[in-house]
Amino acid sequence: MKNIAVLTTAAVISASSVTATTPADTAQREKMDSFISSLMSKMTLEEKIGQLNLPSSGDIMTGAVIDHNTEAAVTQGKIGGTFNIRGAEKIRALQQLAVEKSRLGIPLLIGMDVIHGFETVFPIPLGMSCTWNMPAIEAAARTAAVEMSASGINWTFSPMVDISRDPRWGRMAEGAGEDPYLGSEVARAMVRGYQGKYMSRNDEVMACVKHFALYGAAEAGRDYNTVDMSRQRMYNVYFPPYRAAVEEGAASVMSSFNLVDGIPATENRWLLDDVLRRQWKFGGFVVTDYGSIGEVAVHGLEDLPEASARALKAGSDMDMCSFGFIGTLKDNLEKGKVTMDEIDRAVRRVLEAKYRLGLFENPYKYNDVEREKTQVYCEAHRRLAREIAAQSFVLLKNDGGVLPLAKKGKVALVGPLANSAVNMPGTWSFGAVPEKYKSLKQGFEDALEGKAEVVYAKGCNLYEDPDLEAGCTVLGHEMRDPRTEEELLAEALQAAESADVIVAAMGEAAESSGESSSRTDLTLPATQRRLLEALLATGKPVVMLNFSGRPTVMTWETEHVPAILNVWFGGSEAPDAIADVVFGDVNPSGKLTASMPVNVGQIPIYYNHFNTGRPKDPSKRTFTKYISNYLDAPNEPLYPFGYGLSYTTYDYSDFRLDRQKLTEGDSIRATVRVTNTGDREGAEIVQFYIRDRKGSVARPVKELKHFDRIILKPGESRDVEFVITPEKLKFYNYDLEFVAEPGEFEVMAGPDSRRVQSLRFTLE
Ligand code: BGC
Repeated sequence: MKNIAVLTTAAVISASSVTATTPADTAQREKMDSFISSLMSKMTLEEKIGQLNLPSSGDIMTGAVIDHNTEAAVTQGKIGGTFNIRGAEKIRALQQLAVEKSRLGIPLLIGMDVIHGFETVFPIPLGMSCTWNMPAIEAAARTAAVEMSASGINWTFSPMVDISRDPRWGRMAEGAGEDPYLGSEVARAMVRGYQGKYMSRNDEVMACVKHFALYGAAEAGRDYNTVDMSRQRMYNVYFPPYRAAVEEGAASVMSSFNLVDGIPATENRWLLDDVLRRQWKFGGFVVTDYGSIGEVAVHGLEDLPEASARALKAGSDMDMCSFGFIGTLKDNLEKGKVTMDEIDRAVRRVLEAKYRLGLFENPYKYNDVEREKTQVYCEAHRRLAREIAAQSFVLLKNDGGVLPLAKKGKVALVGPLANSAVNMPGTWSFGAVPEKYKSLKQGFEDALEGKAEVVYAKGCNLYEDPDLEAGCTVLGHEMRDPRTEEELLAEALQAAESADVIVAAMGEAAESSGESSSRTDLTLPATQRRLLEALLATGKPVVMLNFSGRPTVMTWETEHVPAILNVWFGGSEAPDAIADVVFGDVNPSGKLTASMPVNVGQIPIYYNHFNTGRPKDPSKRTFTKYISNYLDAPNEPLYPFGYGLSYTTYDYSDFRLDRQKLTEGDSIRATVRVTNTGDREGAEIVQFYIRDRKGSVARPVKELKHFDRIILKPGESRDVEFVITPEKLKFYNYDLEFVAEPGEFEVMAGPDSRRVQSLRFTLE
């Protein structure tokens, strides 16, 4: 198996560089401070407020379009940056306008939602997290930075690190799933990848951690809906990934749309000042989410002028698309609602980001046409994306070893996603150029060329309802097949009858997940289910590929389909990567980072839940009165957190501790022996969980605390170790102190969160 870490250092890290500027270095810091002070002394109040204004340029739509003239605003010094602008030349021209035509020549921040790659598209972040491969995730972010920066963009609105336990919420696609520890590791890897060491080379860009905070906990999974939770849950579950990203040096943070304790995050002083700046020592700047100062009034609080004042005072430094700062701060100052210091504070933070990016030294450093030509969508990046995509797929079921398929005979490739290049990248793929990408059909044909035949039939449209299909497919109208369901089915059955094996490319459309894409029914659309039933009725072996931007409900499919590979939206190279796994060139190793429910009624569902006072005995399969369970469904998800199969098998044995008592300054070694008991090399993700048996507040039944992705040859064994220190046992107690409490603990090891072996120890 190829080693991603080796591949990426060689391929991705280019040599281009300008002088590094680290504000941690006192001399550099003083230099930056005096540069900015001198610049600010020349700025008018209007120019200062202009730096706090971030309108959209409108080439890409990620919110309501507000009619405004970007060029005029730039020349007049009325914007500090812009986003949703596409095209290296256009961006350069705009930057030139700022530098040459505005009075002080202050360069612009140019943002974009580069969420999982640019032109080389990686799997959606939820998929990418299923690799559990931090060097790979860092390399993906690095690659994205290299490509976007060559096209003029210096600021990505990523990583999105919102924990979510609700797959109805379409934005689960953008995050790393349900676990705070894994989520924190992913957050760190992405920040490192985007910003590099100092965020100063011409291929290092500014990261923006979002959406601070708790956005993933929207009630009922409905986007933008109310959030209301205890501080305990905030600190122990939802906050850790944001904090990890801040600790890793993320230079900007985006506040969220939702309420936190009844106050919109955008103007929540406790959140932005007490927690973010004082407790976590965040030194960068905060940008609001799209139009969120304007939405304060809609939440039922103040109107725009008052909300703008409160947002600034709370710690929002840049206003994305509300035009509240640019429109009202001057007046607010005159009325004494904000102070000059508060305005200056925000301006300084924004200018510091520009300084750290090196924009004052060279405003055009991110407009490198040569780099754009040679690096964007280059061979090395595509190879990396293909490898990572293959690692992100999760093999959910493989009865009788249907997979991998032999490269011989005839393969029927059927399904609405089998011949669709536009759906491969997934949601939030603004740098994507689908004309350059393959469809799965092409990927299969290339993989089987000269060895086996591919016979393709669409089988059905994605959804029966054309409006729904148009709404959630990038090029929905072009893709829809005008034939009747019967005609499409007949063609598919003919293809199936002639083949040795059927591969069904099913699932949701790329835009059925992402922002504003909540769903209440997470099962396969009815028309696809009918197709699947008909394919199964042929008696031929069926492999289902499930394309999804979230954990979907596959209870029926699990009962009836022998092999299921969850392929998420794997990015520009997904078709080749899927072929790699389906035909056995790559052994699947992805493991779920979010529970897959039995049905929607189980949601919210997550492995690290509390025990309750009336827990269900896991050995009892039936409903029990006066116990915390359902009349009509199990408590357990269909596929648990951490789950995923391989073409080989692993055995976990000899789980042991080197001692039973842990004291301050000490550690316990938990070791488990993992053996590859099959006949193929494979990568296994070994997981360790901890349970605090008795806390001063209730503690979860298990929490992921360590994992290791190891590669084992057939027959090979490896001892995998988790060094348990008191630090690893800490949590936020009732008074929100981060403590490890003496007492009894359980440590668990296993291939997923369900199949674990367990040992006990005490902390003294
Ligand atoms: C989203 C953000 C995004 C912003 C800018 C908002 O609607 O919530 O995640 O970064 O738009 O596109």
